[in-house]
Amino acid sequence: MNLLGRSLLTLHDLSPGELGELLDLSALVRRQRRAGERHQRFTGLTLAMLYEKPSTRTRSAFATAFGEEGGCPVVLNRDELQLGAKESLEDTARVFGRMYDAIQYRGYAQETVETLARYAGIPVYNGLTDSRHPTQVLADLLTIREHYGSLDGVSLAYVGDARNNVATSLMVGCSMTGVDCTLVAPRDLQPDPKLVAVCRNGSGAPLTVSDDVGAVDGADVVYTDVWASMGEEDREAERLQLLAGYQVNDALMRRAADTAIFMHDLPAVKGNEVTDAVFEAPYSAVWEQAENRKHTAKALMLATLVGEA
Ligand code: CP
Ligand code: NVA
Repeated sequence: MNLLGRSLLTLHDLSPGELGELLDLSALVRRQRRAGERHQRFTGLTLAMLYEKPSTRTRSAFATAFGEEGGCPVVLNRDELQLGAKESLEDTARVFGRMYDAIQYRGYAQETVETLARYAGIPVYNGLTDSRHPTQVLADLLTIREHYGSLDGVSLAYVGDARNNVATSLMVGCSMTGVDCTLVAPRDLQPDPKLVAVCRNGSGAPLTVSDDVGAVDGADVVYTDVWASMGEEDREAERLQLLAGYQVNDALMRRAADTAIFMHDLPAVKGNEVTDAVFEAPYSAVWEQAENRKHTAKALMLATLVGEA
């Protein structure tokens, strides 16, 4: 794997082989941390963390993974910068490119993270836009792989708003790793058919889109996300109506395989997309998933900034 100098704006920036190797590296750095090993692989490096939306996990994952190995993460909230008022995104990116070694962005438009990468000339990591959340899905795939020992042939059913950032990146990630992916959502909330076609063409893994919760039957993983994403708060009432039949509850989990796990990228709105009982159940993998954000962020930065573990 040679990812030195590369950005991660969408999972399609990686080849399936590179994605697999990044998961291997993530598992290695997780083992190292759990064994109490201490490394200083980011010494002398700096990371600009540009935030337009709130975050608990992504911000903490990148800042701690980078900082604990000697790197200097600098969190920059957009409204505290000159950006937008006097200065363009292109000019901001060129300044960042002169001062930092990498940029981690969270915000609205996918175009913003693309412009940052184009003008900064340093690796840029997409920590969520309106349409993608690739660094989340690295952690999700690691979680599934560690649980089942392999990704190939595992079946995942995502239930809820299946055209949001998490569902979209999950669909891409599954198609690249041999996970049999089913997206279950009412018609108005189904994924972009063009991207579905791209994902189907790019892999041998089955990809199904359905508005019938019966499509969850036998799934190894049941995954959901909030019904109204950040920036869509005014649509909450409409989504409650549209998605009322798509809550992940005991009845829905009974459709899945007996050994199925529950996953959620978090934060979760309990009582909407998932019940408290499912969220707290022994088969819920949400904390493992959250922890894996850190290990996968570290592996991504090691591969793109240092080139080795
Ligand atoms: N899953 C996730 O991205 O969480 P945060 O919004 O807290 O970063
Ligand atoms: N779809 C959610 C993910 C949060 C991590 C959102 O965009 O708000």
